[in-house]
Amino acid sequence: MANVQAILADITHLDVDAIVNAANSSLMGGGGVDGAIHRAAGVGLLEECRKLNGCRTGEAKITQGYNLPARFVIHTVGPIWHGGTAGEAKLLANCYQNSLRLAAENYLSSIAFPGISTGVYGFPVEPAAMIAVNTVNSFLETPGSIEKVIFCCFSQSDLEIYHKTLLSV
Ligand code: APR
Repeated sequence: MANVQAILADITHLDVDAIVNAANSSLMGGGGVDGAIHRAAGVGLLEECRKLNGCRTGEAKITQGYNLPARFVIHTVGPIWHGGTAGEAKLLANCYQNSLRLAAENYLSSIAFPGISTGVYGFPVEPAAMIAVNTVNSFLETPGSIEKVIFCCFSQSDLEIYHKTLLSV
């Protein structure tokens, strides 16, 4: 039975097999968690990302972790929030699903997610947390390599929402 937990942390400090990056479709870096990951990983990450030809919304691509404690970075592109009627929920679920699929294909056992789309992209945190938790739980129903999933929150208020969500499902 995999362990699923929410913590308050800077994701760039986590010693896990893979951290997930909330990137944009260029995969060439940006602000928020994307900027923090690129700064901490170093220029090798940008060089590898340059060869990936970007990433579509809802999809995911994997790179090495370079100077990060994490061995890999899984880059996914969350949907921009347009009010909820533009397929945002399905696209966000796809981000979690495709990131987990890549982790499993690479035999990884621990993975940490930031709140994909809940920063600059404007997805409200409560429904985003529900999608994150439900998608992870249903993925983990099929036994595989993943033993530990961390929801890495960057504020106390986000952590409280994740704790409530984890208890409610
Ligand atoms: N560790 C963990 N979480 C973080 C960190 C960090 N170091 N820095 C920011 N966050 C959190 C934010 O507080 C938010 O909850 O990550 C979540 C996602 O926010 P954004 O980074 O703004 O990501 P997103 O909303 O998906 O927007 C993606 O932002 O910088 C760009 O290149 C990125 O264009 C893309 C867009």
